[in-house]
Amino acid sequence: MKTKIFTKSLGLAGAAALALLLGGCEQPPQETAQTGPRGTGMVQVKSPEREEAKRAAIVLPEVQPEADASGPRASEVYENVKVLGHLSEGQFIRVMAAITEWVQPEQGCAGCHNLENLADDSVYTKVVARRMFQMTQTINAKWTAHVGQTGVTCYTCHRGQAVPAEIWFKSPGDDNPPYMGAKNGQNAPVKSVAYSTLPNEPFSALLVQKGEIRVQGTTAIPQVPARVEQGQTIQDAEKTYGLMMHMSTGLGVNCGFCHNSRAFGSWAESPPQRVTAWHGIQMVRELNTTYLDPLQPVYPANRLGEAGDAPKAYCATCHQGVNKPLYGAAMFKDYAVELSPPKAN
Ligand code: HEC
Ligand code: HEC
Ligand code: HEC
Ligand code: HEC
Repeated sequence: MKTKIFTKSLGLAGAAALALLLGGCEQPPQETAQTGPRGTGMVQVKSPEREEAKRAAIVLPEVQPEADASGPRASEVYENVKVLGHLSEGQFIRVMAAITEWVQPEQGCAGCHNLENLADDSVYTKVVARRMFQMTQTINAKWTAHVGQTGVTCYTCHRGQAVPAEIWFKSPGDDNPPYMGAKNGQNAPVKSVAYSTLPNEPFSALLVQKGEIRVQGTTAIPQVPARVEQGQTIQDAEKTYGLMMHMSTGLGVNCGFCHNSRAFGSWAESPPQRVTAWHGIQMVRELNTTYLDPLQPVYPANRLGEAGDAPKAYCATCHQGVNKPLYGAAMFKDYAVELSPPKAN
């Protein structure tokens, strides 16, 4: 009824504008769950419809049959094995079958191999995959403060695709100096920062370089810009908020999942998920600097970004809109031998 009167008085143009405006909204009802004390903004708002679609989109591949762990090592059986040499022949072939399903289901073995000679390293995807094994082993062995015993497999990021759905590249940059209208990546909304007008690529500074994320003033009457004594600027604060928008949208949660909104900086008032997230930030920095960025020379030009850099990971690469990737499905436990570093076995 209300809309009717409203649209009548506004006329046709108004109605069209309203339809356009509401078109961006989600259908009610929304479900809300309070996760902290009242009045602190610690509430999670979810659309049941969207939650259902997200769950339905996740199809877990079947576990490969157990392999015989005895017998000669892959390093003795094969010619050019640099990372998986500690596995038995059976385990080696088992993990080849698994990654084919996780990463290259359409192309099969040929997605990474010259089928005339499996030892040959001429297909770039094989060279990338070898490094991916090392990266996955590192995540599972070193970053349990983030991934717990759940761990990750190639499927956590790839989901049956050669190129994961969520990757990012360095922004080609803005040549204008700040006083001549440099936009700091603003007003060019992209999905990775939830279409906000915040800097659209805070990731080079904060998820590759160890840029300072903490920007709030620590004194009762903060300086402007806040934390100016540590060199933090308004632009830095905007980057922090850009990253926070990514973390929220990447995990499909609201800010209150990790913060008490009356004191964003306070760790004492934050839920434990914020500590997990902190470890996640450190982990992603290592994945990008140690594994993904250095693969740049291996990729063909069409896989590189506008700035000529290699594709990289952020929170959404694993999480894909869910607070625990794949809703916490523990795929790693079935491949713990294959996806852990040799010394952990
Ligand atoms: C996603 C990429 C990828 C796919 C798909 C893949 N492989 Fe591999 N394969 C590798 C990598 C990487 C190595 C090297 C491992 C190492 O260095 O430890 C390898 C090595 C091998 C080797 C050892 C060759 C030698 O003598 O050095 C065999 C055998 C093999 N793969 C078989 C297969 C089979 C069979 C399939 C299909 C069922 C397959 N692979 C699918 C990435 C892949
Ligand atoms: C943390 C997320 C993550 C995990 C885990 C992961 N990958 Fe990747 N992978 C990436 C990213 C990011 C790229 C770069 C995408 C691109 O090539 O454009 C990539 C690229 C690749 C490529 C090259 C694709 C292409 O065509 O350019 C292969 C092959 C690959 N991964 C294999 C694997 C294998 C095998 C595993 C498990 C041992 C694995 N990945 C685990 C994130 C991941
Ligand atoms: C998944 C958890 C998570 C979510 C969701 C999240 N944050 Fe954060 N936030 C963190 C972590 C972790 C830090 C601290 C990073 C560090 O210390 O290096 C932080 C830091 C901050 C800071 C800086 C605090 C300081 O000490 O100066 C602000 C401001 C902030 N977040 C705001 C937000 C806002 C606004 C949202 C929602 C758009 C949000 N955060 C969503 C985890 C989260
Ligand atoms: C390599 C894959 C991967 C990446 C990248 C990743 N995470 Fe996670 N994250 C996981 C896994 C796996 C879990 C589940 C751990 C468990 O079950 O205990 C998790 C759990 C979490 C949780 C706890 C959720 C809960 O419900 O308790 C938070 C918060 C989180 N991640 C934040 C982040 C943030 C923020 C980033 C980016 C800075 C990030 N993650 C990047 C794999 C990843």
